Amino acid sequence: MPASTRRQTMLSGIQPTAIPHLGNYLGAIRNWATLQKDFNYFLFIADWHALTIPQPAEELRENVFKLVAYLLASGIDPQYCTIFIQSHIPEHLELSWILNCMTYMGELNRMTQFKDKSKKAEENLNAGLFSYPVLQAADILIYRAHFVPVGEDQRQHIELTRNLAERFNRRYKKKVLVVPEPYIKSDGGRVMDLQDPMAKMSKSGAFSNGIIFLNDSDDMILRKVKSAVTDSQQSIALANISPGIANLAEIYAILSNEPVQQVLESFDGKMYGQFKLQVAERIIDTIRPIRETAQRYLVDRKFLHEVLLEGSKKARKVARETLGDVFEATGLLMEKQLS
Ligand code: TYM
Repeated sequence: MPASTRRQTMLSGIQPTAIPHLGNYLGAIRNWATLQKDFNYFLFIADWHALTIPQPAEELRENVFKLVAYLLASGIDPQYCTIFIQSHIPEHLELSWILNCMTYMGELNRMTQFKDKSKKAEENLNAGLFSYPVLQAADILIYRAHFVPVGEDQRQHIELTRNLAERFNRRYKKKVLVVPEPYIKSDGGRVMDLQDPMAKMSKSGAFSNGIIFLNDSDDMILRKVKSAVTDSQQSIALANISPGIANLAEIYAILSNEPVQQVLESFDGKMYGQFKLQVAERIIDTIRPIRETAQRYLVDRKFLHEVLLEGSKKARKVARETLGDVFEATGLLMEKQLS
């Protein structure tokens, strides 16, 4: 048996809607980089999902390359991890249709991300936004992933994926699809917006000052952290930690590999200004090398093309195999059965 099939499969995806931010990094990307060697690992750029919000064509194209450069600069290694573009593997959409035919409208109506996004949508809501989680389920199930490392905001989508896999296997009385587990770390799973610590940091956030992007300059990071919303106190008081301070402390704790309680205790009584400077320093030390390495990858387009072509070749092989089993179970005829 080849090494890649002996190990369990892990898979995740990220949308190419902007440069990744600190929430993406702490909630997802850094975990992907740590886990890649221990699993049969698939990571893809979710460009079909990005289309659920209108994207200028040239920007979308460029964002795909930028995203891949930032992933590689964050430690994702194509030697261990199969990186590819979602839209290069049509099998995702084929499985997605089959799953659409067994997903209930009520299930999709209950998705909190759909409810949030539909509140924000200025014009007519598109059907893609509604069936978004079904495509996400297909992304996962087509690779028979055992684990899906994501941030907290994706938990409900993974739950739906599990239900669909179980429903499919039950309906067709065969264990065709693997029921995946979410992999969500207890720290960093929900990094909050620096300007609105009650809302998660999000590429579509209302204030760009509240989002730290992986391409922000050192000065920009310092400015954003300094202006982070806290509360009416001047200094850290352990008995009274506001959401803004808790968020900064969690970021600091992850980046310095310390428990958050220990961080808060060590800053107890210190002025907010002093604490913010230390948080900014930790973030700058993490982001600077990523930003600089990504710039180098970005000028080597040929290398990025090779990584993505190699990735889709490997991914396609697995996806075709699963889809063959799905056709067989559901009674759909494969073209090759006619010759
Ligand atoms: P996306 O592109 O919004 O985010 C990529 C990853 O970053 C995590 N994340 C966060 N983690 C902590 N704090 C935050 N503030 C924060 N914001 C984002 C997300 O949880 C995610 O893990 N639907 C997915 C893309 C996708 C996918 C998939 C993921 C499509 N198909 C299949 C896994 C499996 C999304 O929009 O992620």
